[in-house]
Amino acid sequence: MNTFWNFFKKKQIAQELPPVNLSDLIKVDMHGHLLPGIDDGAQTMEESIKLIKGLINLGYSKVFCTPHVMFDFYKNSTETILDSLKKLQEELQKRGVQIPIEVSAEYYFDEELFNRVKKNDILSFGPDNYLLFEFSYFNEHQGIFDAVTDMIQAGYTPVLAHPERYPYYVAHPEKYDQLKNLGLKFQLNLLSLTGYYGESALYGSKYLINKEYIDFIGSDIHKESQIIELEKSLKTNHIHQLIDSKKLLNYTLE
Ligand SMILES: [Fe+2]
Repeated sequence: MNTFWNFFKKKQIAQELPPVNLSDLIKVDMHGHLLPGIDDGAQTMEESIKLIKGLINLGYSKVFCTPHVMFDFYKNSTETILDSLKKLQEELQKRGVQIPIEVSAEYYFDEELFNRVKKNDILSFGPDNYLLFEFSYFNEHQGIFDAVTDMIQAGYTPVLAHPERYPYYVAHPEKYDQLKNLGLKFQLNLLSLTGYYGESALYGSKYLINKEYIDFIGSDIHKESQIIELEKSLKTNHIHQLIDSKKLLNYTLE
């Protein structure tokens, strides 16, 4: 009985927390699939505009478009991404939607990324040339040390997208230490905090927040229905803990 009531009380407390104020520390969203029709995010200009308006309503004052770049699936070049951004900005201006927008990409950890690092053809961002990249959700990659070393030697600061979403790391959390020791920054997805991606990602989030391993937080928004979930995640005790840690670097991207 006691356990039940403790659990119930904890849930009540979590739900009663006020939403964090985005205008404080995390007013910049540095991860979102906002460009129309070039990956699995917004498919049309209308959808792009809806996502951006949704982010503005949540309190964001600047957003980054980070479409997937993947050798065999999302063959987005730097040119096509920049071209798409230009069209989106023109449309936003036409409709009077005002928010600064920057562009980067979410690079999949594959040969294409390694080639672009060698060619210096990376859409990096922020004061430390951040390079946002992601791993496979299913298989742990080999050769991470060499690839990350190449990124750093080429002048980039690698930022691992949603480290909490890789089940093979959540199951062996000591591997997070190794990744951190390689010099990686970690970017957590807000949606992980509500259990949106399942128990494993929620558990991984708590672990990484407790270790104070999170450097950035992002929406990783793909579709309009996620706005409501994002709103919920801003009321969790985890996001409050993350903000209170004062480790987040989103504000440096203004
Ligand atoms: Fe993403």
